[in-house]
Amino acid sequence: MPRYICSPAMISPQTIQQILARLDIVDVVGSFIKLKRRGSNYIGNCPFHNEKTPSFTVSPSKEIYKCFGCGKSGNTISFVMEHEKYSYVDALKWLANRYGIEIEETFVSDEQRQQYQTADSLYILNNFAGQFFTRQLFETEEGQDIGLSYFKERGFREEIIRKFQLGYAPEQRDALVQEAKAKQYNPELLLKSGLVAERNGQLTDNYRGRVIFPIHNSSGKILGFGARILKANDRAPKYINTPENEIYVKSKILYGSYFARTAIDKADECLLVEGYTDVVSLHQAGIENVVASGGTSLTTDQLRLIRKYTNNLTIIYDGDAAGVKAALRGLDMALEEGLNVKLVLIPDKEDPDSYVNKVGATAFREFIDTNKKDFILFQLEVALKDAGGDSVKKSEVVNKMAETISRINKLEDFTRQQDYIRQCAQILQIDEGGMHSLVNKFIRDRISTQERKLPFEDAAQREENARKAEEANYEEATFNLMFKDDLQEKEIARVLLEHGDKPWEDGRKVANYIFDEMVDESLMDNQEVIKLLNAFKELLQHDPEHANKNYFVYHQDTGLSTLAVSLLNFPYEESEHWRREFSQNTGFQKNLFEQSYEDFIRTLSPGNDEELYKFLKIGEDKTSEKVLSAVNYLKLRKIKRMLLENQVDMEKEHTPEELNVLRETHRHLKKMEMELTQALGTVVIR
Ligand code: UTP
Ligand code: MN
Repeated sequence: MPRYICSPAMISPQTIQQILARLDIVDVVGSFIKLKRRGSNYIGNCPFHNEKTPSFTVSPSKEIYKCFGCGKSGNTISFVMEHEKYSYVDALKWLANRYGIEIEETFVSDEQRQQYQTADSLYILNNFAGQFFTRQLFETEEGQDIGLSYFKERGFREEIIRKFQLGYAPEQRDALVQEAKAKQYNPELLLKSGLVAERNGQLTDNYRGRVIFPIHNSSGKILGFGARILKANDRAPKYINTPENEIYVKSKILYGSYFARTAIDKADECLLVEGYTDVVSLHQAGIENVVASGGTSLTTDQLRLIRKYTNNLTIIYDGDAAGVKAALRGLDMALEEGLNVKLVLIPDKEDPDSYVNKVGATAFREFIDTNKKDFILFQLEVALKDAGGDSVKKSEVVNKMAETISRINKLEDFTRQQDYIRQCAQILQIDEGGMHSLVNKFIRDRISTQERKLPFEDAAQREENARKAEEANYEEATFNLMFKDDLQEKEIARVLLEHGDKPWEDGRKVANYIFDEMVDESLMDNQEVIKLLNAFKELLQHDPEHANKNYFVYHQDTGLSTLAVSLLNFPYEESEHWRREFSQNTGFQKNLFEQSYEDFIRTLSPGNDEELYKFLKIGEDKTSEKVLSAVNYLKLRKIKRMLLENQVDMEKEHTPEELNVLRETHRHLKKMEMELTQALGTVVIR
């Protein structure tokens, strides 16, 4: 087996046997909760829900536990997993450690071993740095005068500062570097951690004159840091964050998860805010079931992390337009993850941090409880208000709602889905049965829905970004382009999986064409997608026979297989049957809104019946079209980014010659953008 397809470290079957042989459920459970003997069993207070009289029962003979209060049950390993929020492997490791069993790992490649070592070293280094920053804060004059007084001014009390291990990075160029050198940390590691940067061939501290927020994983180890500037400054970023490395993977991090996990368990609810300071302030106010997303929209990994603790997510965002938009963005994914999402908007330009400081803990809690809105209904409310009396817009709203509801497609959420259908139909004053069929249609053709969505939402988003850039609001536009959507990346990955092994025109395979054409990787942000693409590429070189979707669907790396499965989520046959279904459903819409799908598309792309035809031409093999459009979208994205960079550059001081070059570049890029847009033949809304 080639090295690159080895699975992550696995504990050898012998070791697992040894661990299982030594397990004692009473001993293990008893180390977390107090157990009393009763007959042949033991009982105690359940750690998974609040109770005063014990109903948590452990049976040593059966080696299982069950709580008769909340119903949780399992074996020793699942207890450790549940209680400590460990993965299976981590739970085994914990147990092995407890019983002094040496772990034998199998199938670890050199590369992986290297990765684990780097990860371990990074944890050690971060721990050292965390202590360094704390010492600076409390024990130096500069730290006390500047850092500590900053925190105090914000109302952070000492105990909360200690709890979150907040710190201070002094102004001095190389304070941390000096200490790290004395401790013989390797320069490469220092650079990788982001604590240190190289300037003019010298190692210097990366965070200077900033307060430090260490970011912990859910078992309390430091993954990285957020370093906040003290005074507003236009030229320097507000926060400097740890760069992506072996342990700091932004898309998987929720700030505060370590401090929040027991509270989330108990409350069976997770509050989500945007900023580090929001988490700290809410904790200080005694509201501890809170984590932060770090200012970007939620990722699937973060949602999964939340779902480990609870199914109830309450998003608390600023009430301004941007806050609302940001909040709505994560919704569809959250639904797919099976979460009940509620939304609270904080009024008057406040954020949770300032609001809790203003009104106090009790009023804050009350505010959250009384202002919690159901996310789906909230979305409907916003959209309806937007639509006003416009029937075209209203039809869009109905479609959007049906699509949203269709994402609650988990078996266990069936009732919830029915509830939403009823409520939405009522609010929209349309026939419930009709809403029902529409939702079902979306469930059936999720994949082709995604294809349709791509040109619409994307073009709109892109236009919005371009418009913003023109208003010189580069920051947000750039941000959107760089971080906010990974639709196209996913589309490339999907096309690759779905069509990669088909022949392309000139004897190459589709996959070869994609990689040959593919604009550089810097265009990709989604780490999982990058990983999949790289694995595919490598496979193509070394083992082309296997370069197809099945290989990835059954991949041993669960990250990759999950991604592959989600990309290919709804396999569908482009069959007669399907075509019939589709026309039935469009017919349905016609009756309901006196506006057919055809008309709907016409309104977006007037006079372009060819476009319309393409759109409705379902059931034919569109491989090459899909491949071309996916590749072209990526190219377009690249050009849009270059345009933005160029525009930013133009804002600066320049000689007339330089300015000419920049203008020429701008024209050239615009031309390419236009050509690509035309080649894509999409419905671009101008
Ligand atoms: P905020 O600007 O709301 O920051 O960004 P904050 O943490 O609430 O800080 P205060 O209250 O203004 O002091 C929310 C989050 O976005 C990320 C950080 O995670 C921050 O907590 N962020 C923001 C960055 O990573 N970099 C930035 O430059 C700004
Ligand atoms: Mn804030």
